[in-house]
Amino acid sequence: MKICVIGTGYVGLTTGVCLAESGFDVTCIDKDVNKIRQLNEGEVPFHEPGLDSLLKKVMVGKKIKFSNKIESAIRSNDIIFIAVGTPSMEDGSADLAAVFEVAKSIKKNLNAFKILVIKSTVPVGTNKKVAAILAGRGGKSKTRFAVISNPEFLRQGKALADYKNPHRIVIGGTNQRAIDVIMKVYAGCHCPLIVTSPENAEIIKYASNSFLAMKISYINEVANICERYNADIREVAAGMGLDPRIGDRFLEAGIGFGGSCFPKDMKALVHFADLVDYDFKLLKAALAVNERQKLLPVEKLKKNLGSLRGRTIGLLGLSFKADTDDIREASSIALINCLLGEKVKVRVTDPRAEKNMKRLFPEINYFDSPYEMADGCDGLILITEWPEYSALDFKRIKPKLKKPLLIDGRNLFDPKTMKKLGFIYEGIGRN
Ligand code: UDX
Repeated sequence: MKICVIGTGYVGLTTGVCLAESGFDVTCIDKDVNKIRQLNEGEVPFHEPGLDSLLKKVMVGKKIKFSNKIESAIRSNDIIFIAVGTPSMEDGSADLAAVFEVAKSIKKNLNAFKILVIKSTVPVGTNKKVAAILAGRGGKSKTRFAVISNPEFLRQGKALADYKNPHRIVIGGTNQRAIDVIMKVYAGCHCPLIVTSPENAEIIKYASNSFLAMKISYINEVANICERYNADIREVAAGMGLDPRIGDRFLEAGIGFGGSCFPKDMKALVHFADLVDYDFKLLKAALAVNERQKLLPVEKLKKNLGSLRGRTIGLLGLSFKADTDDIREASSIALINCLLGEKVKVRVTDPRAEKNMKRLFPEINYFDSPYEMADGCDGLILITEWPEYSALDFKRIKPKLKKPLLIDGRNLFDPKTMKKLGFIYEGIGRN
């Protein structure tokens, strides 16, 4: 079977490479000529563990090709996965311009029966809108295509593992012939296949991501209470998580969630609830809690240092989580903005995200080594739980600091050990 994947972000590229590994002949399309050039040279344009080597493997087997020629790719493939971006607009709604543009290209090149598979996260009703674009006026070409909603649940940094071991595959559609074909595409996956309506599939994606994000905001609020009552959120979360109705995952308190999905998807769900006159209060609150949580380290700095004006603060990590160079909606951005507003001299280090952050904040100081960054700092804030930071030699760091203050935004370190080393240690929700 031949498959075309449009969009080579982490969802599109992971999907394309994994489909090629499963034996399909895959053509990946992207508008960005530089990305296509890099991919043709066997280079992944972003950091996603394992994707580089799998790409090289499928390229050797000639199972995948990359091109920016969308028209010919549509004409020569009958299954087309759409994995283009749907960023947030100012009012929180998802920007569907890229999805609709692809739909229009497909309409122009409808030379045979085509199955469109929407992987991009799109609001409820988009499947129908895409179908209307393809059907055109009078719905003449309705028999020549089918639109399937097949939301993606891959995590950045763990995209390959998630693709290979999904918890469920959701196939939303009304055309049985197309549903059967897509079920065959996923035949190798050992997980529940949910065949449902396009609307259900679209909502499953938003409701899942928003629920997970809400769980994080909830545990962060409990953590803030724990701090005030001399309790420890790690132990509280462990006690809660043993109840299978709660579950022990996504209960890690910290300085908030970020990334390309959670904030965007919550805002979009609030927006499409608004469209039908429904005020989604819980999600609005969870978003507000997250914004407050991102700036918690500033309160902790002030508590320990008084005025921050003229202080030097070092940030360990910039990406929104470990194993990615992505800084979209990262807590580091809100924090840097706030610290710069307080006239703090900001020093930063990150194993992967420096290049992306330099475009946003060229004026701050970047360091390859956390040890060099720490030199002369009034305090450090751990932003990202990179594994290399767990192995930092704090005996070496301490004498470099003007004040041995460590704010651990991800509860990566053991408070007792850090205190023994002579640090003023502040975690999130820990006594
Ligand atoms: C998420 C969903 O998990 C994935 O299913 C969906 O398809 C895309 O969005 P991703 O954004 O890659 O994936 O990252 P994830 O691992 O879910 O973490 C998101 C954010 O939540 C990160 O900033 C992380 O640090 C934070 N987080 C996660 C917490 O603060 N506490 C937790 O317990 C878990």
